[in-house]
Amino acid sequence: MTADLSPIDRAKYIAARRAVEFIEDGMRVGLGTGSTAAWMVKCLGELIRDEGIKVTGVATSARTADLARQVGVPVATLDDVRWLDLTIDGADEFDRNLNLIKGGGGALLQEKIVATASDQMVVIADPSKEVDTLGAFPLPVEVIPFGWQTTKALIEEMLSNVEVTGRNASLRLSGTEPFRTDEGNFILDLHLRRIINPAQVSLVLNQIPGVVENGLFLDICDVLVIGSADGTVEVRDINNGTVQHERIDLIDSENLFVDIAE
Ligand code: A5P
Repeated sequence: MTADLSPIDRAKYIAARRAVEFIEDGMRVGLGTGSTAAWMVKCLGELIRDEGIKVTGVATSARTADLARQVGVPVATLDDVRWLDLTIDGADEFDRNLNLIKGGGGALLQEKIVATASDQMVVIADPSKEVDTLGAFPLPVEVIPFGWQTTKALIEEMLSNVEVTGRNASLRLSGTEPFRTDEGNFILDLHLRRIINPAQVSLVLNQIPGVVENGLFLDICDVLVIGSADGTVEVRDINNGTVQHERIDLIDSENLFVDIAE
């Protein structure tokens, strides 16, 4: 029941419900990772079941692939389909230019590859993710385990030459062990607070040996869907320069996939 959701989950659900309206019969769709994207995958499963549309999903993580199969979304690999019509994913932060920080869930590498291979990227978020300047959320950087401490030192040295207000890097842990991405890599979280020139930071990070990819998604997002707990939704289209305000009418008895574990 929608009334049972916390305000934040309700907002995420609203954004996801609106975003699946971008999906058309026959599309190849990139499936993001994270709690907001999980709502979208569930909504897509419902759409496939209720309306009989045919969609091929490409997941951005093993856990999204598992969820997709569980809710009846056919899953293929990116190598199977090569190019996608649309990707829908969440974000940890977005600014007014629809630039993003992603990777809080550790899936930034596959997320960036899949989003870049898509004609259109739709990002779904709740209003708390909006910032004036990216960087309050620690920037995730995927690095290979070999020599990671040297890579971290090189990153910290590089940070002294760019305009940011924090310069600490920390190895992400899972319990007492380093967190491992789906590719077996490590994540360094950069506590930068304010990233004045995201393009410069992204470029120099990716030139450091050992860095695989960083969580800045610049000029990749086309449409941002911001859901709110009161059922309103804002749709910003960066290419058309439009901002639409809409309302999703929820039926209180709506099946919220309570039988499906994320
Ligand atoms: C996963 O690696 C991330 O990029 C997520 O898309 C992002 O962290 C948003 O997650 P939530 O929707 O759970 O906030």
